[in-house]
Amino acid sequence: MATHRKRALVTGGAGLIGSHVADLLQREGWTVRILDNLEPQTHRNGKPAWIANDVEFIEGDLRDRETMTAALDEIDVVFHQAAYGGYMPEIAKYVHVNSFGTAQMLEIIREQKLPIKKILVASSQAVYSEGAATCPEHGLVFPEVRPVEQLQAGDWSVHCPICQAVTESTPTHERAPVGGETVYGLTKVDQEKLTLLWGKQIGIPTVALRYSCTYGPRQSIFNPYTGVIAIFCTRLLNNLPPVFYEDGEQTRDFSFVEDIARANLLAAETDRLDGLPVNVGSGRGVSIREIAGLISDALDIRIPPEAKGEFRPGEMRHLTSGTDRIRAAGYEPQVDLPTGIGRYLDWIRQQGDVRDYFSEAAAILRDKGIVHRAKPAGLRR
Ligand SMILES: NC(=O)c1ccc[n+]([C@@H]2O[C@H](COP(=O)([O-])OP(=O)(O)OC[C@H]3O[C@@H](n4cnc5c(N)ncnc54)[C@H](O)[C@@H]3O)[C@@H](O)[C@H]2O)c1
Ligand SMILES: [Zn+2]
Repeated sequence: MATHRKRALVTGGAGLIGSHVADLLQREGWTVRILDNLEPQTHRNGKPAWIANDVEFIEGDLRDRETMTAALDEIDVVFHQAAYGGYMPEIAKYVHVNSFGTAQMLEIIREQKLPIKKILVASSQAVYSEGAATCPEHGLVFPEVRPVEQLQAGDWSVHCPICQAVTESTPTHERAPVGGETVYGLTKVDQEKLTLLWGKQIGIPTVALRYSCTYGPRQSIFNPYTGVIAIFCTRLLNNLPPVFYEDGEQTRDFSFVEDIARANLLAAETDRLDGLPVNVGSGRGVSIREIAGLISDALDIRIPPEAKGEFRPGEMRHLTSGTDRIRAAGYEPQVDLPTGIGRYLDWIRQQGDVRDYFSEAAAILRDKGIVHRAKPAGLRR
């Protein structure tokens, strides 16, 4: 029996997911320490007001060995949420923060023989190359990432890897092949593989939670590179059209941030997920066009979305999380999309600055080759 309150380190605890994990753990009676460097892209106004006063807050960079060593002192469970995310132009920084940062954290724990009882690492659906699909002829298939040439010709569909027929999306389970088709995705693969492998070698239980697209209060409205719901909300509030990549019919699985926090608590408390990658999602695919419609409805602002045939090489077309594994351990998402979007909008309305940062970022992404445009011929369909 535990003789003390359980002690958590939440890295990235000032951010969207980390802050909700921290709040939930506190309500559950844990002692919580946060390590966060307040990445300026996300936190334009410094330390956010939502960090509870009785939480120990270390403002520092997880890449700094001394800082990380101090943060890990007297901790039972690490909730490793900090990462560099989204579709940013950098390459080295992703590897440095996500891959190197995780590797160094594990090394410190081993070298100092710290009595950590479990490590949860925030992974992502971005580890998959493309969502699982069904071919009319071959049934369940795992297509590879769509070739850039295909996208340049304006063909957004996902073809069967065996017969090239157009497939239909189906939920992706954890045994699907893991790829890493964006720099971000690649570093998420690194983080989960490093953690799961290392945990087995060292005998510390670890879990890699592959979150689906997560949204909700505290999701940065300043970061134009990530979070389709946040971006569409700020676009519409600025009377600007939401912008679709491809044609808006691509689908994603969305999770309200409090559900993701509950999944973290569950994974910390059960041993049924130990040593595993685990999808966390709703199990339902929703098109980006539907998302724009839901936000438009909630705001009662109607501006037709724009689709200019732009696409992001490496991006998957469809991803619905297969959630059997986590549901078998007792997980059930509780907040549906309309409710969650409503709660996010309530929060946004309390924020002063809802400027549009997307327009400027879009130009940068085009310039750096992260966003491409299909050749006009391909758009004639
Ligand atoms: N939001 C999503 O849709 C989503 C989906 C899948 C996976 N994830 C993963 O979940 C985790 C949390 O994401 P989020 O949505 O809460 O992002 P977020 O940007 O809101 O939070 C991340 C936090 O980490 C901090 N951070 C970044 N670099 C750091 C560093 N070098 N040292 C210390 N702190 C640092 C940031 O300041 C920020 O507060 C990330 O690992 C992300 O890759 C998020
Ligand atoms: Zn086929």
